[in-house]
Amino acid sequence: MNIKERNENMRQFFNSKIDSYDETHQKFMLTKKDLIDSFYSGQETILDLGVGTGLELIHLFELNGNVKVTAIDISEGMLKKLKERNFGKNIKTILGDFFEVEFGGPYDAVISTSALHHFVEKDKLELYKKIYNCLNKNGEFINSDKVALSIEEEKKLLNEYYQYKDERAHCDTPLSCETEKKLLQEAGFKDIEIKETYNDNYRLIKARK
Ligand SMILES: C[S@@+](CC[C@H](N)C(=O)[O-])C[C@H]1O[C@@H](n2cnc3c(N)ncnc32)[C@H](O)[C@@H]1O
Repeated sequence: MNIKERNENMRQFFNSKIDSYDETHQKFMLTKKDLIDSFYSGQETILDLGVGTGLELIHLFELNGNVKVTAIDISEGMLKKLKERNFGKNIKTILGDFFEVEFGGPYDAVISTSALHHFVEKDKLELYKKIYNCLNKNGEFINSDKVALSIEEEKKLLNEYYQYKDERAHCDTPLSCETEKKLLQEAGFKDIEIKETYNDNYRLIKARK
């Protein structure tokens, strides 16, 4: 399965989860709020990668109802739900795969949560370079996401993915904090910080252009 097929599987998977999504993700709400509180200080333009139904944006719009958000997602069903929120009409949505659509910009910040743990190293590096290029000077990338808790776990999950990729629609391949840091540095980012979150295997990763 190549990355295009994997992302198409992802689209179908999330389209099928729309009705239960918000309830399932209630246990991550503190982590999503913390993501916003960790960086937001009045930035005007923000890109959200893998916005889903927009759970992380609820707190952002509480802080600033006029913030300009662009949101990308591959699932048309998730974006439809997002548009139904009271702030939905304020968001510019882009339907498509991170690896295929133009990000636009430049943005003051790029945020993402729970959306980037399905990519192998080479694809993630490509994505990080794309994020770097769409940020303003000194702009920040803030990602709260699942990580592998060691290099050994990263390798184990990657092996499982290669073993079962044709049978499983959804297979996580989170990278370790060490690999995340290395890829962000390779993409050009500086001031990289990685912190624990309210969820065991989630980390808040911040990096500056
Ligand atoms: C687990 S949901 C997270 C949604 C939201 N950020 C949240 O925390 O509630 C992951 C989202 O990323 C989107 N996604 C996954 N892979 C993608 C890709 N390659 N391009 C664009 N969106 C993608 C999915 O469609 C889904 O809506």
